[in-house]
Amino acid sequence: SEALRVGIAGLGTVGASVARVLADKAAELTRQCGRPIVVSGVSARERARDRGVDLSAAQWFDDPVELAGWDGIDVFVELIGGDEGAALDCVKTALEAGRHVVTANKALLAKHGLALADIAEQKGVLLNYEAAVAGGIPVIKTMREAMAGNTVSRVFGILNGTCNYILTRMEAEGISFEECLADAQRLGYAEADPTFDIEGHDTAHKLAILTSLAFGSRIAADDIYMEGISNITQADIRAAAELGYRIKLLGVAQRTESGIEQRVHPTMVPTASVIAQVHGVTNAVAVETDILGELLLSGPGAGGNATASAVVGDVADIAKSRPGFQHGPVFGRPVKELSPYKRAQ
Ligand code: HSE
Repeated sequence: SEALRVGIAGLGTVGASVARVLADKAAELTRQCGRPIVVSGVSARERARDRGVDLSAAQWFDDPVELAGWDGIDVFVELIGGDEGAALDCVKTALEAGRHVVTANKALLAKHGLALADIAEQKGVLLNYEAAVAGGIPVIKTMREAMAGNTVSRVFGILNGTCNYILTRMEAEGISFEECLADAQRLGYAEADPTFDIEGHDTAHKLAILTSLAFGSRIAADDIYMEGISNITQADIRAAAELGYRIKLLGVAQRTESGIEQRVHPTMVPTASVIAQVHGVTNAVAVETDILGELLLSGPGAGGNATASAVVGDVADIAKSRPGFQHGPVFGRPVKELSPYKRAQ
């Protein structure tokens, strides 16, 4: 049957991986989805660069907003990054034009997620963002679909691969913060501006999204206590180890009697605990609920292929969806049904 036509904006680490996976796994994806998925348009800053994938069959756009509004695509995949500017303009344009959108952009969703979800709901299109939280771990689907009916009391986890990679290597190899960060950048784990990783912003963006899904509340990314790992020294790590602890950067959101509490900070976790065994670029998300009990998901939290896996899964979902058969509202319930965010006292 008819191919699903995809436009990809942003061909950095993740975008190039997505294009490669869609090409390499084309036959398998066609079998799984019942129709081919083709990349019909692309946009990036540099046209000439070799990305290890043949994109010559796709129409090139210098301007990603033009690609977003082009009628040669059914799905717009936003992998530009940033919470304003081109990324925001593109996603808005695509949704308003009635295209489905897939994005890995946690900063954009933390800031504009509700406004964008509102447009998607009005237009009856999908806004999928599995890759935005914890890279390759299917946590959005799990919380939104698989945990229907559960009342969540707490969600927490290791949500930034770069920080966990740095802390793991500082502890295991005794090497400096700067050297670990440089390696994380070289491996394609870090944000374009790594301050977002090490100062906790990236974890906070992801936590804000999880909080909304967990508690059915409006996103409140500004109401997060935030402390990063840039001040953590070898001495801190050794002192924690002597006491039987490991230092992890955690994002935590919990329901209290007075409201919701959200925080991001380095935390001492007992060395024997499961969360302390989460090493390197791996992320972990724990969810505590009344029906299910305690759930812990772990897996690759950053990097081209792991993130591409989640993006491709989101695109495949759209390829399989039929009009009228969608997975439901973007943030679990219609935007108008989300409760006002109430912070804990
Ligand atoms: N810079 C992010 C991280 C990428 O290190 O986790 C994945 O969102």
